[in-house]
Amino acid sequence: MASITVRNLDETVKQALRLRAARHDRSMEEEARLLLADGVGEPDQRPMAAGGSNLPKPVGGADPDHAYPARGKRILLIIGGGIAAYKCLDLIRRLRERGVSVRPVLTRAGGEFVTPLSLGALAADRVFTDLFDREDEHDVGHIRLSREADLIVVAPATADFLAKMAGGHADDLASTVVLASDKPILVAPAMNPKMWQHPATVRNYATLESDGVHFIGPEAGEMAESDEAGTGRMAEPMAIVERIGVLLDTGPKPLAGRIAIVTSGPTHEPIDPVRYIANRSSGKQGHAIAAALARAGAQVKLISGPVNIADPAGVEVIHVETARQMHEAALGALPADIAVMVAAVADWRTDGAADEKIKKTASERTPRLALVENPDILAAVGHHERRPCLVVGFAAETEKIDKHGRGKLERKNADWIVANDVSPETGVMGGDANTIRLIRRDGIEAWPTLSKQAVAERLTERVVDYFAENTAHA
Ligand code: C5P
Repeated sequence: MASITVRNLDETVKQALRLRAARHDRSMEEEARLLLADGVGEPDQRPMAAGGSNLPKPVGGADPDHAYPARGKRILLIIGGGIAAYKCLDLIRRLRERGVSVRPVLTRAGGEFVTPLSLGALAADRVFTDLFDREDEHDVGHIRLSREADLIVVAPATADFLAKMAGGHADDLASTVVLASDKPILVAPAMNPKMWQHPATVRNYATLESDGVHFIGPEAGEMAESDEAGTGRMAEPMAIVERIGVLLDTGPKPLAGRIAIVTSGPTHEPIDPVRYIANRSSGKQGHAIAAALARAGAQVKLISGPVNIADPAGVEVIHVETARQMHEAALGALPADIAVMVAAVADWRTDGAADEKIKKTASERTPRLALVENPDILAAVGHHERRPCLVVGFAAETEKIDKHGRGKLERKNADWIVANDVSPETGVMGGDANTIRLIRRDGIEAWPTLSKQAVAERLTERVVDYFAENTAHA
């Protein structure tokens, strides 16, 4: 049999795979393997054994997220009818990997898109389908179904299901469970853009929002129908997983009432309408810090340059392109208690980007780029009259880490510098680990090599300690 390599895929497929893999934090090969496994129905072929023996193996054999706040919680997942229903297979898998139990309820229309067999195999639970099924009523009635869940998730939610929910209908198991529930509900709509924009759907959405229903998506993009694009795509499974984590997080909130500004990712400095100056920052570290501060209760404003990773759940995200836009957004986000500037801001921009694409013509000499300095955002915040109590900068260094870190602390009037060795052999840029030295005015703390997630959590602990100490002294 011929083998497939990612290199041989055509460019558009490769680009879609790259984005998908980045969103899921996987390699492109791993993403392709999982997509193929889903596509050929691998889960359906597994025997349905009782009692959790069908648990999906964690990707890479590792626990993907030991700090997931919804670990141990129970989700009732209602799967509506729509092409996006296939994504709920991945959603179940991701939740199960994180120690969440999932009980699927499949609507009649949903059953046209995914089978009870594949849902049951992935969830390692029975799939509930029909209100008037004698066995269901005797076994687990609709009241018990909602009572035994910590959260109800509807994904995908069709326009029809939103209408039923908003109208309080209860003519099948799924709508009855929702009506009989006093549990939080998260809805991930998926429908044609025209249906999403229809005044009836807009009305239903407003009604449900005021009833306290939580929404995620829909997102803009191409539809399954050919030549259709607009807002209506269901949110990606990992975004739903993150949102569930936020909704079910009952952990302590030591930063409640604090406002944090975080910058993340690279900036793009245009040369002309199609070219720009950029750097290799992925945004992973800044986004992880924003999410960790939010989990600790802070109100986080994340100002992100162009990245290929999803917005973290539970934070306000301001998307920008250039250093000047990031500078304006950061100063506009003041006042705040904490600023953590992680973005790899371009030091220079071109001295005036060309309005038209610069042409390569044989007669003309190679163009020279004139550069001008960008504003230093950390320094601007550090010296601002409304300076946050705690200003943290990052320093990506390839040599003399402590000396350069201390220099930045002084020049930019920061309280801490999180210094990091980014020499090419460390693989830090775009990678998953960091080796940090936390430089403060009163000393330096050396951290072992940690995942970016763990760096975010440790830094958040230090922020919590800082406010605990300084509030106690005040
Ligand atoms: O001077 P250097 O770029 O190494 O400083 C790194 C720190 O300063 C980081 O925290 C980075 O986010 C911040 N910075 C900034 N604006 C710039 C340059 C750097 O906020 N124009």
